[in-house]
Amino acid sequence: MKTKVGIIGAGPAGLFLSKILHSQGIDNVVLESRSRHYVENRLRAGLLEHNTVELLKELGVGKNLINNGIPHHGVMLSFNGERVHIPFEELTGGRNITIYGQRFVVRDLIADLADKNNYPLYFEATAGHIEKIETDRPLIHYEYEGENHEIHCDYVVACDGYHGIGRQTLPGHIFNTHRVEYPFSWLGILAETPPSSEELIYAFHTRGFALLSYRSPEISRLYIQVDNDDHVDNWPDDKLWDELDTRLGTEGWTLNKGPIIQKGITPMRSYMIDHMQYGRLFMAGDAAHIVPPTGGKGLNLAVADVKLLGKAFAAHYHNNDDTLLKGYSTDALKRVWRTQHFSNFMTQQFHKRFQEDSFDYQLQKAQFDYIKKSVAMRTTIAENYVGLKEI
Ligand code: FAD
Ligand code: PHB
Repeated sequence: MKTKVGIIGAGPAGLFLSKILHSQGIDNVVLESRSRHYVENRLRAGLLEHNTVELLKELGVGKNLINNGIPHHGVMLSFNGERVHIPFEELTGGRNITIYGQRFVVRDLIADLADKNNYPLYFEATAGHIEKIETDRPLIHYEYEGENHEIHCDYVVACDGYHGIGRQTLPGHIFNTHRVEYPFSWLGILAETPPSSEELIYAFHTRGFALLSYRSPEISRLYIQVDNDDHVDNWPDDKLWDELDTRLGTEGWTLNKGPIIQKGITPMRSYMIDHMQYGRLFMAGDAAHIVPPTGGKGLNLAVADVKLLGKAFAAHYHNNDDTLLKGYSTDALKRVWRTQHFSNFMTQQFHKRFQEDSFDYQLQKAQFDYIKKSVAMRTTIAENYVGLKEI
């Protein structure tokens, strides 16, 4: 098989890139090792930045998002039961975020690419290795329906997530790795109960972090900070609801409870490589960087990467101009670093890390007091939370 751009991975990065390229008339093929059913049902992110929402609409794939996504005009930050409201639109000149599950974004893109347009998107097709990235005709070896195949392309984009083969193909000497493992994880639940607040609540509590989010007017998504070696079996439903109540609570507010339909533990890490391209191989999304979920940035950062790549490929194929392709890593890393900073800030600010009589705890508290007092600080949080327009 031959194509212009060979894309490995049908997560948000690969699917958005494929759609952007098709919209520019640039041939591409997507290989995905998992089944369509698996990819469409994987429970992950839910928070879409302003730019991500705009892009879905621009690409003509925003119909379900417009009908079912829930725009949020602010967020609530809480410290030991004291809450501060961050009104996005007022502080950012009209920008906001939308709650719409990653699996729905993925479903909408797959329906458009595979069902509506019949573009080449292969499920259960596993890329084994990538070759000749230093030449102008790289190729991807992959296995599909029990047989080995090759795709010859002009460029390869590895959108294959944290465990993918793309990063392993980059020569080790061209990048440095940065990694922070946090000493806590998130226990997340989906519950059949209407959300207890119109807006998300990020809460610091001396017992640990908690987050209230939701997926629909009937389904709540909630998280609590737990130790890395904790297990869902240690958290029967009643105990979990009591803990959420304590950590999220404030006077006069009630937490809605209901049947818990899913429970899982996610570790927290910051990870990135500081160079995202080599020869004809480009990296995008989780393949190149992971941010802790406090701030809801992972999916949005993946989309920001491929938006840049889309522009760069358009300049290459339509104007014979390689400036953007050559500058991709440098350009993408500006947003990656900004996002690493914000996600790290939100993580450090709202997780329990220290005893109450410590210096560091007092710094966390002083910072929260500053958020309460300062419009400048609230503006900083708001513009990072909804996502900077450009960087
Ligand atoms: P992925 O979604 O990981 O997609 C990579 C794809 O490549 C996968 O489908 C994989 O099967 C495929 N693949 C891998 N290797 C191969 C191969 N060799 N051949 C073919 N295919 C291959 N982000 C947010 O913005 N907000 C949130 O609220 C949030 N919550 C999260 C909660 C959880 C539990 C997790 C795990 C993540 C969360 N994230 C969140 C992060 C977000 O989901 C990821 O950043 C996002 O999925 C990145 O998209 P991606 O396309 O880069 O990678
Ligand atoms: C979610 O709804 O799953 C979610 C929202 C915000 C975050 C993380 C996760 O920061």
